[in-house]
Amino acid sequence: MATILITGGSGLVGRQLTAQLSASGHDVRLLSRSVDAHSYMWDPRKGYLDEKALEGVDAIIHLAGENIGAHPWTKERRRSIRDSRVLGLEVIRMALERRGQHLPTLVSASAVGYYGNDTSDRCYVETDPPSNDFLSQVCVDWEAAAMAFQAIGTRVVILRTGLVLSRHGGVLPLLQRLAGLGLLCPLGSGHQGMPWIHLDDLCLQYMKAVEEQHLEGVFNAVAPELHTNRSFSATLASTLHRPFFLPPLPAFVLRLLMGERATLLLEGCQVSAKKMTDAGYIARYPTLRQALEAEKKL
Ligand SMILES: NC(=O)c1ccc[n+]([C@@H]2O[C@H](COP(=O)([O-])OP(=O)(O)OC[C@H]3O[C@@H](n4cnc5c(N)ncnc54)[C@H](OP(=O)(O)O)[C@@H]3O)[C@@H](O)[C@H]2O)c1
Repeated sequence: MATILITGGSGLVGRQLTAQLSASGHDVRLLSRSVDAHSYMWDPRKGYLDEKALEGVDAIIHLAGENIGAHPWTKERRRSIRDSRVLGLEVIRMALERRGQHLPTLVSASAVGYYGNDTSDRCYVETDPPSNDFLSQVCVDWEAAAMAFQAIGTRVVILRTGLVLSRHGGVLPLLQRLAGLGLLCPLGSGHQGMPWIHLDDLCLQYMKAVEEQHLEGVFNAVAPELHTNRSFSATLASTLHRPFFLPPLPAFVLRLLMGERATLLLEGCQVSAKKMTDAGYIARYPTLRQALEAEKKL
C-alpha cells in the first residue's frame, strides 16, 4: 500500500478520492492552506511547504487550484487561477530537489479546456494541440509544470478532466435546481460540446493512475458518451421529468451577466475517452442518463 499526498484534497474531487484511497488501504495525507489533524500546511503563493508532508511519499496527486467559476476574471483572479495550479507544483518539485528525494509518481489534474472551443463534430484526442485562449494557456502551463517532474525521474500522469458530475458539489446541484423549476434552456447556440464525467469514475481513474505503474502521460478523463450543451440539458430535464421547452439564452446575455467567465458555459468541444478505455478503464457511468439518475437527490 502506498503513502499518497493530495494537494487540494479538501475539494469536491479530493474528499471522495481521499475516502476511496483510504478504504483501499492507502495512507493518505493532505496538503492544504488551512491545517487540521489530517493535513499539512502550504502556501504556494509564498513558496511555503511543510516538508514533513513529503517524508516517505510514494505518490502525489495535485488537485489544488483556485475555483475558476466562482468570481469574475479580474487580472488578479486570472493570475490566481494560473498560479494556484502552477506554483504549487513548482514549490513541491523544488522541495524534492532540495531534499534529494525521489518521488515515484505524480498524478495531476488538468482540464478539457485545453482544447478550446469547436462546435464541429471533431472529437479531440490527447495529441491534439491546445487552443490559445486563457483557459487553454492555464492548462498548458499547468501540464508543463507537471511534466517538469519527469526530469527528476518521476512517472507523471495528467488527467484532462471534463465537467465533474456529483450531487455533492460542482455545477450539477445548480443545474438540478434550474431543471426542477423548468428553467433549463440551451445556452448560446447549444451546439458547444460538454465533456463530462461522473465523480466516481474520475476517482477510480485517479486510483488507476496511481496504482498502475505502466500508465504515463496525458489521458482525457471524460465519459465515452458525447453531449452538446443542448443534449446535456435535455437529458437532465428528462431524468427529473421536467419540461425542456424554453428558447436558448443568447450568448450576449450570458456575457453581459458573467463577463468572460461565460466562456465556461458557451464554449467547448467534443473530447474522446478512447485512450483511457484502451488502457482498460471501463466506465461505471458510461451514459449521461445513468450518471444523472444516480445523482438525483433522493
Ligand atoms: N470539478 C470539475 O468539474 C473539474 C473539471 C475539470 C478540472 N477540474 C480540476 O480538478 C481539480 C479538483 O477539482 P475540484 O472540483 O475538487 O476543485 P475544488 O472543489 O474547487 O477544490 C480545489 C481545492 O484547491 C485548493 N485551493 C483553492 N484555491 C487555492 C489557491 N488559491 N491556492 C492553492 N490551493 C487552492 C482548496 O484546498 P485547500 O483550501 O485545502 O487549500 C480546494 O479545496 C482542480 O484543479 C480543478 O481545476 C475540476
